[in-house]
Amino acid sequence: MAAFVIETVQGKGCQTSGTDFFVRAQELCRKYGTLLISDEVQTGLGRTGKMFGFQHWNLEPDIITLAKTLSGGYVPCGAIVARRDIYQKTFSRMDRCVVHSTTFGRNNLAMACGLAALEVIDQEDLVERSAKMGALFMEKIEALKAKHSFIKEVRGKGLMIGIEFHEPSEFKLKMAWKLLHKIDKVLFAQMIVTQMLSKHRILTQVAGHAMDVMKILPPLIIGEKEIDMFVNALDDVLTECRKFPGPMWELGNNFVKAALGSRRSPEPRPTVSA
Ligand SMILES: Cc1ncc(COP(=O)(O)O)c(C=O)c1O
Repeated sequence: MAAFVIETVQGKGCQTSGTDFFVRAQELCRKYGTLLISDEVQTGLGRTGKMFGFQHWNLEPDIITLAKTLSGGYVPCGAIVARRDIYQKTFSRMDRCVVHSTTFGRNNLAMACGLAALEVIDQEDLVERSAKMGALFMEKIEALKAKHSFIKEVRGKGLMIGIEFHEPSEFKLKMAWKLLHKIDKVLFAQMIVTQMLSKHRILTQVAGHAMDVMKILPPLIIGEKEIDMFVNALDDVLTECRKFPGPMWELGNNFVKAALGSRRSPEPRPTVSA
């Protein structure tokens, strides 16, 4: 038996599909008897503005995986949700009862936390809030594009948002950008993430290796005030980046030194300076 696994908004890079790719994939799965698995570890439980990511395409997966938000992040907790007939086929005989097992599976504390988190998501309408706040958040970040040519694309769904950067249009900044990228593609995003934390106390992430993407996954209870705080902070950090030479690129320079140091390159070290 084969299975096709999808992640409707990818944890790495926050790519999603603007086409009917998932719908067509499901059709093919049905045609050839392949199971469709939706990995909802990141996208599940309201993160993307629907209870599950696959609902944006009205899919009907056979299996879904859940974790992270399932316990509100407090207790390690994960779940596999499958159609009854799949479950029964998997655990069909005595000798198959351990065909898929884990030490901490069915842990009572984790399950209690899972149920509590589901109740809060429901009672506080967090799925709807995620859709509403996510749309507002993306719109406000998108508006920064006019001011900062570093921003290439704002993408994602609900409160799972990726901001992709690219080479800026200003000549001096192009040079700094190129130098930084000679070393490693992720360093620019790393620079932004570091400054967002150290100057503005806002925790963000780089969205993966070798990409100019930062990722934001705010709590589902976020309000307009916090969104404005974030957007002002990002505006400030990107404004700092326009000062070249300046402290931001000095920070970039330190990253370059650290990256080269760890590679122990015998070549002369390039620096990000005017
Ligand atoms: C999209 C996605 N799927 C699966 C996993 C693995 O989840 P777990 O560590 O709970 O097994 C992760 C972990 O980060 C993830 O991001």
